[in-house]
Amino acid sequence: MEIIKVKDYDAMSEKACEFLAERINRLENPVLGLATGSTPEGLYKRLIEKYNNKEVSFKQVKSFNLDEYVGLEKDDPNSYYFFMKDKLFDHVDISLENVRVPNGVAPDLNQECEAHDEAIKAAGGIDVQLLGIGGNGHIGFNEPGTPFTSKTQVVDLEESTIQANSRFFNSIEEVPTQAISMGIDTIMSSKEILLLVSGENKADALNKLINGEVTEELPASVLQNHPNVTIIADEAALSVAS
Ligand code: F6R
Repeated sequence: MEIIKVKDYDAMSEKACEFLAERINRLENPVLGLATGSTPEGLYKRLIEKYNNKEVSFKQVKSFNLDEYVGLEKDDPNSYYFFMKDKLFDHVDISLENVRVPNGVAPDLNQECEAHDEAIKAAGGIDVQLLGIGGNGHIGFNEPGTPFTSKTQVVDLEESTIQANSRFFNSIEEVPTQAISMGIDTIMSSKEILLLVSGENKADALNKLINGEVTEELPASVLQNHPNVTIIADEAALSVAS
């Protein structure tokens, strides 16, 4: 596990952009695992700048998103499909045929989960999986207690996650209580993992991930078992760990 300490959110985003652009340029058919939320927004902004400067192209990129809320249509401004289009896909040369965000309104959600894992396999697996971390240590929407053997599945969101994500909604009642999330095993099958962490509210979870035991009670701790993980974290996020 390599830990790169940077000053702040902007420096984290910059470093992550260099990291990802290098992989996109180097790999012939890059397969990316993508995340939503506040953490990768600065990274996506910089990737768009890099694309505009002709320093990176997404023509050959395939991508798979970690998760999607159950019950939100693609064109719902709070859906993760909408987020990805708004923050990245609409601004670069990626083909929408090559992106897959789980469909949160699929008639058969379990079948949709299986289809997500199958599509990842058919693409040859994920080369680089981008992750953020929840204050409770979740990765994807795999909340504490999720088995490490889990594949993509429908999950119930913890009260703390609903609370944290309510900032994007008009009211907490509008926050979906379930999501489709790539499983822990799905995430761990990626060839390489890039975890971005910023802010003091993540410091405790990051400390447990780095220094604590590997336990399903802190889903992110499973990353200790992955052979190729890079963490880019800012000083505030590393304030407890170091
Ligand atoms: C997002 C995801 C989540 C977030 C985590 C942190 O696709 O899977 O695990 O990465 O909840 O969210 P932010 O970045 O908003 O603090």
